[in-house]
Amino acid sequence: MSNQYLHDVLIIGSGASGLSLALQLAQSSDNNIAVISKAIISEGATFYAQGGISAVLDNQDSIESHVQDTLKVGNGLCDPEIVKFVVENGLESIQWLIDIGVKFTRSSASDGNEYHLHQEGGHSHRRILHSADSTGQAIESTLESRVRNHANIDLFEHHSAIDLITKHKMGLENNRCHGVYVLDQQSGNIKVFRAKTVVLATGGAGKVYLYTSNPDICTGDGIAMAWRAGCAIANMEFIQFHPTCLYHPDAKSFLISEALRGEGAKLIRPDGTPFLKRYDSREELAPRDIVARAIDHEMKRLGADCVYLDISHRDCNFIIEHFPTIYAKCLQFGFDITKDPIPVVPAAHYTCGGVMIDKHGRTDLPGLYAIGEVSCSGLHGANRMASNSLLECVVFAHSAYRDIKSSLDSTPLPPELSEWDETQVTNSDEDVVVSHNWDEIRRFMWDYVGIVRSTKRLKRAQNRIRLLQAEIQEYYSNFKVTNDLIELRNIAVVASLIIDSALSRKESRGLHYTIDYPVQPVIDSGKSTILEINNSQIKITATDNQ
Ligand code: FAD
Ligand code: SIN
Repeated sequence: MSNQYLHDVLIIGSGASGLSLALQLAQSSDNNIAVISKAIISEGATFYAQGGISAVLDNQDSIESHVQDTLKVGNGLCDPEIVKFVVENGLESIQWLIDIGVKFTRSSASDGNEYHLHQEGGHSHRRILHSADSTGQAIESTLESRVRNHANIDLFEHHSAIDLITKHKMGLENNRCHGVYVLDQQSGNIKVFRAKTVVLATGGAGKVYLYTSNPDICTGDGIAMAWRAGCAIANMEFIQFHPTCLYHPDAKSFLISEALRGEGAKLIRPDGTPFLKRYDSREELAPRDIVARAIDHEMKRLGADCVYLDISHRDCNFIIEHFPTIYAKCLQFGFDITKDPIPVVPAAHYTCGGVMIDKHGRTDLPGLYAIGEVSCSGLHGANRMASNSLLECVVFAHSAYRDIKSSLDSTPLPPELSEWDETQVTNSDEDVVVSHNWDEIRRFMWDYVGIVRSTKRLKRAQNRIRLLQAEIQEYYSNFKVTNDLIELRNIAVVASLIIDSALSRKESRGLHYTIDYPVQPVIDSGKSTILEINNSQIKITATDNQ
């Protein structure tokens, strides 16, 4: 069987962003599309999204209000033009989701709204369209049912993209992305995928941290691949920690949606006293950076293992109807949320930075797009507002679709590409190196590059990641690749980008908080951190957003 594949568009990733783009491209022309996914199609952050997708649907709400809330939560680092673009295009994207069959929870109240809307941190209105508390599952399974067996889409599950193939890597001028090397996990073969256009839709990098709400596939592969291909990466220091994940040894940081706080849940100390008023007048509906830091502070101050989230004062039927997944999951671990406070801790949740893109999802490498959590579009700035991520996925899938479609016919086919060379490598005789380095990176990222940072701890982390990267590179050069090794090499790259970016930011802003520069600066004076690689030298610049 041939190891070479040729498509018009190759999409790496099958979450909300990748599948939305694939479906639109496939429905509008005869172009052939490939979607590759390193697990089963549905496995990704999208499937686990709970709270919902933000949109201006309430009679009292306005586009301007959603724009202003997003800018404020982003702490001066959002690109105002992109924020306006996403919010203005949001309704069309939501309508598209409804048209393809996504079922959102309808309103039972006489407030004039067709759909029930959640409220979450930073939003000044009820604005979150949802499907009970499993919105991501509703979106992902609808998209999956549409793309499976679509004549124009070839799906490749359990296929891991390793590296982008570019003209520069082939020793040629006029750089362009022509394809990707991909590990077929079942056969162990490395395949060559060629395409006129390649799209990264690989999601975020929560697995760089020991504790994360993210599923296992979130290892920042797209960011690492783009970095190795020479793309600019921005704002990696802004890792969002979700304030409330279930604290239980077997719960794998299961998320307890912020929507509970929107419905009145209170955060309390182990002795039952509420504490958020001390930190922000918006209390439970303050943005995530503030709530996560407050919890971290209280836990450290009290030496407590967790704090508690209590919604038990609300009507039992209301809780079960609105939060059936969370209710069932907590019950499985022995907590009846209609009666008991839920033990919660923060965990790494969202990668605000990523591959820099323009309004059309184009990266600075011709032939390569990036959409969804892998990208840094300018929407989130220094802190993402709740439920703006799914919105970004669908809006950018639409804008990339329009751009790709308009240029595809005039884009030449990629040239023949060389096969993956395995002549210099053997099977690993020391897998322990991979598992050890995985654990080491995730632990020191949690301990040294977490919610509260210091220059000393960041430097410790920087020393360690440099050593580990050299060791991993040597291992990678000598042994055959496996999925674990691909991911390890990628989390190491992403960890180093986060550390370098964090060290270069000499202030506390949004999600980046350091005890060495504790004072939050004037919000409007922000600059993004942009990392570029030039002749093997990393260049870090700070640039205005507009
Ligand atoms: P994902 O859905 O993560 O998909 C990534 C895809 O890329 C997967 O198919 C994966 O297999 C594939 N992939 C990755 N690397 C490779 C590789 N090397 N080769 C091949 N394939 C690869 N946001 C909201 O707006 N509202 C919410 O309510 C919300 N709740 C959330 C709850 C949880 C528990 C989590 C974790 C996140 C939540 N978020 C929420 C964030 C949001 O879900 C994600 O940002 C969004 O779904 C990302 O979509 P995506 O398409 O970019 O990536
Ligand atoms: C949540 O439901 O709390 C997650 C929402 C988000 O990450 O946007």
